[in-house]
Amino acid sequence: MQDAIIKLEDVWKVYHMGRVEVQALRGLSLVIRKGEFVAIMGPSGSGKSTSVNMVGCLDVPSRGRILLDGKDISHLSESALAQIRGKKIGFIFQQFNLIGTLTALENVMLPMAFQDTSLSERKQRAMELLALVGLGDRMHHKPSELSGGQQQRVAIARALANEPEVILADEPTGNLDSQTGKMVMDFLRKLHKEQGTTIIMVTHDAYVARHADRIEHLRDGRIVKTDHQR
Ligand SMILES: Nc1ncnc2c1ncn2[C@@H]1O[C@H](COP(=O)(O)OP(=O)(O)OP(=O)(O)O)[C@@H](O)[C@H]1O
Ligand SMILES: [Mg+2]
Repeated sequence: MQDAIIKLEDVWKVYHMGRVEVQALRGLSLVIRKGEFVAIMGPSGSGKSTSVNMVGCLDVPSRGRILLDGKDISHLSESALAQIRGKKIGFIFQQFNLIGTLTALENVMLPMAFQDTSLSERKQRAMELLALVGLGDRMHHKPSELSGGQQQRVAIARALANEPEVILADEPTGNLDSQTGKMVMDFLRKLHKEQGTTIIMVTHDAYVARHADRIEHLRDGRIVKTDHQR
């Protein structure tokens, strides 16, 4: 068995909305090993996005520990989290989250802005990544000039920009038709197989989840069932 890359230990997340308390995560424990492809399923509001955001250093738990590569990230400052995020993690969201005023090429170059490499090297890498996702001929298009599937492929190229150890995908096919969704899944699967990238993917779609090695079922902020598929 490979080493754990991510470990959540009895993680709680409580949001305070005025006097109302929302318990988004209620004692979530989960181990992800290097190179695994894990799908997270569960009803709306069960805490899927909250848990993925926490693994992705976008938020910190109210209680419990999160270990990334053995390092406890539960209590880090925002700037320390941002640094880890930039180096280790690539995000793919349901809404693509591209910057509308930038071209595909500029969107993919953005995460590399803080690297020590020259502008021309960053541009070269962004061009290679766009070619990899089949968009070599759409580099100078803005998001509004691209189809949904093309935008999601730009987002995937952007997620890969810094060669992340972990890809976090929250409903990556949620806004795509089934054909385009399949293309995106084939790409993620290939990335996982050929490069050994660890992938954690939230999905509502049982068919999409079948691409994963393992499905974790969430309910009311904790895991209620695990399905091993391989
Ligand atoms: N910033 C926030 N402030 C207050 N409550 C929140 C916040 N973010 C999430 N919640 C609440 O936490 C719970 C879990 O939300 P989360 O977004 O993780 O659900 P989800 O499983 O991703 O659902 P969906 O499938 O609809 O995306 C929900 O009840 C939600 O209303
Ligand atoms: Mg969600």
